[in-house]
Amino acid sequence: MLIKSITLTNFRNHTHYHLDCQDDTTLILGKNGCGKTSVLEAIYILTRGKSFRASDPDIIKRETNFYRIELVSDTGEKSVATFDGETKTFTIMDKKSRRLPKTHKHPVVLFLPSDLNLISGSPSRHRDYFDRLFSELDEKYASSLSKYEKSLRQRNELLKTDTVKNSDLFSWNLLLAKYGSYIKEARESFVNYINKDLEKTYFQVANHEDHLTLNYQTEILKNSEDFYLKNLEASLEKDLYSKHTNFGIHRDDFIFFFNRKPADGSASRGETRSIILALKFIEANMMKDFLHQKPLVLLDDVFSELDDTRRKALIKNFKHHQIILTSVEDVNLNY
Ligand SMILES: Nc1ncnc2c1ncn2[C@@H]1O[C@H](COP(=O)(O)OP(=O)(O)OP(=O)(O)O)[C@@H](O)[C@H]1O
Ligand SMILES: [Mg+2]
Repeated sequence: MLIKSITLTNFRNHTHYHLDCQDDTTLILGKNGCGKTSVLEAIYILTRGKSFRASDPDIIKRETNFYRIELVSDTGEKSVATFDGETKTFTIMDKKSRRLPKTHKHPVVLFLPSDLNLISGSPSRHRDYFDRLFSELDEKYASSLSKYEKSLRQRNELLKTDTVKNSDLFSWNLLLAKYGSYIKEARESFVNYINKDLEKTYFQVANHEDHLTLNYQTEILKNSEDFYLKNLEASLEKDLYSKHTNFGIHRDDFIFFFNRKPADGSASRGETRSIILALKFIEANMMKDFLHQKPLVLLDDVFSELDDTRRKALIKNFKHHQIILTSVEDVNLNY
């Protein structure tokens, strides 16, 4: 799918806004605060189903009571999302639904300036990043994760009550073991996939040979629901004392190792940028391999963060994709 145009009504600071998109690269140029990221956010809602940075009530233009976005694709298909303060509705060729139908989700490689902090962030930030990517690649991952998180919340609620017994927790333990083991196995195999090409891709970006791996760190040492369950039960005493669940995939981490040391603290700023760029290129390949679709590439203000070599690598790598990018200053796209 290619996007032909996007039209916003009462979306953030935009009362009415219309953008015609090119099949290759579209540049949204403007001053700080003029609403560039909001345009990418609107496109993201109509390709992935929800915003990458906020919930719907925050998005409605202040002092108005609804927002509407309309996206027209190269096939002439029109998708509309509206939110009236309470209900979000997707209308695709006159068919209404509360969620963006799976058939209309389109893979997106999104590059935000904050992604450049991925390496230094906390484990929960690392998990959020990779969970969003893996959920996009695997529906079962997305549903297992959401069921896991729900079960974890329930189990933690129970642990906060003074009268909780082991038998009260059993049904939640079963669910955590079931979904948690799936997520662990999937994380492991996605990370292996990323590592297959990581060093080579990094070399293409940085033109420098370095040893680079993404390390998946987990306490789940075996791929078995039984192992998961036994460990959950073994940590009961600790859980009762701390009033939360101490064992599970919600404590996993993803850490880049640069020349065999954690990249946070060893890679320079430029090297860090190259690592993230390499990751974005691999994401695009994963989308092609797993979903058999070429992703749309949304780049929010990242040019200013990259030197000329890396800008070149970025444009060259995504040459055959539709790219929509924002910038505060004019950029040379003719590499
Ligand atoms: N619900 C809202 N109603 C009205 N204005 C909003 C709302 N939410 C955010 N804004 C404002 O909309 C403007 C556009 O935000 P946006 O993040 O899209 O800007 P931007 O062009 O990407 O800026 P920057 O270059 O600083 O990244 C900002 O001034 C922001 O404060
Ligand atoms: Mg912005």
